[in-house]
Amino acid sequence: MMELDKKILEAKKYIENYLDEKPDICLILGSGLGVLGEKAENQKIVDYSNIPHFPVSTIEGHKSRFVFGRINNIKVAIMQGRFHFYEGYSMKETAFPVWVMKSLGVNKLIVTNAAGGINTSYRPGDLMLIKDHINFMFTNPLIGPNLNSIGTRFPDMSNAYSYRMREIVKNVSDKLNIPIKEGVYASMTGPSYETPAEIRMLRILGADAVGMSTVPEVIAANHAEMEVIGISCITNMAAGVLDKPLNHQEVIKTAEEVKEKFIKLVTGIISEI
Ligand code: 6GU
Repeated sequence: MMELDKKILEAKKYIENYLDEKPDICLILGSGLGVLGEKAENQKIVDYSNIPHFPVSTIEGHKSRFVFGRINNIKVAIMQGRFHFYEGYSMKETAFPVWVMKSLGVNKLIVTNAAGGINTSYRPGDLMLIKDHINFMFTNPLIGPNLNSIGTRFPDMSNAYSYRMREIVKNVSDKLNIPIKEGVYASMTGPSYETPAEIRMLRILGADAVGMSTVPEVIAANHAEMEVIGISCITNMAAGVLDKPLNHQEVIKTAEEVKEKFIKLVTGIISEI
């Protein structure tokens, strides 16, 4: 099989040939939050299915393409749709787009997701700035030979969600009057949601929100020495917090309701980081 760094290079070359200008910031948009892609000016679309070695995302409610363009005149690469571990992709496939972005010269990453609220002061529709994560997937995209061209064997994760950029997000949030909480994101493999006992465990262990994405990409980005912002949209309370079952329709519906303030906030952040 072709080595991973060759695959990254081929994917990078394909995208590079197609673009007139290279992006500075990559955005990975979660369930129901892909609308931001529509806001980019001078759009150039690249379907994942046309990029060499790219996996193709399958889940309903997710597109599977890059939108390259400008937001607030900043050059962005927007991923509409990502690769989830629960779909059967490996951790490496999940992280692959991040490596491709890094090799294109992108050094800033904004990841967003839909997440369940564990912290009982949270409400559906809240936004949460991720200050740290707990990897409950218990595997890692960096397992295997190290990509020396990208980063070090044992990457530091003590500032995984950039302190510098989090301060900026909080300033933008104040300025635009769009409140944002700050908390710890726990990643589970899914696809089943957690049990109430699992949610109680996660709360005791320090998690404020739970989801099925983000951590693989953030690990890859930190390895690549990219600066990362993570924003969760709390689409529902996690199992056992309220006396009602969870479903994906509610996740999509809340994300839909939040999208206006989400777009405003992220657009504001892009020009400041
Ligand atoms: Cl409650 N759990 C997980 N794992 N992912 C979610 C969620 C809950 N709500 C939205 N995404």
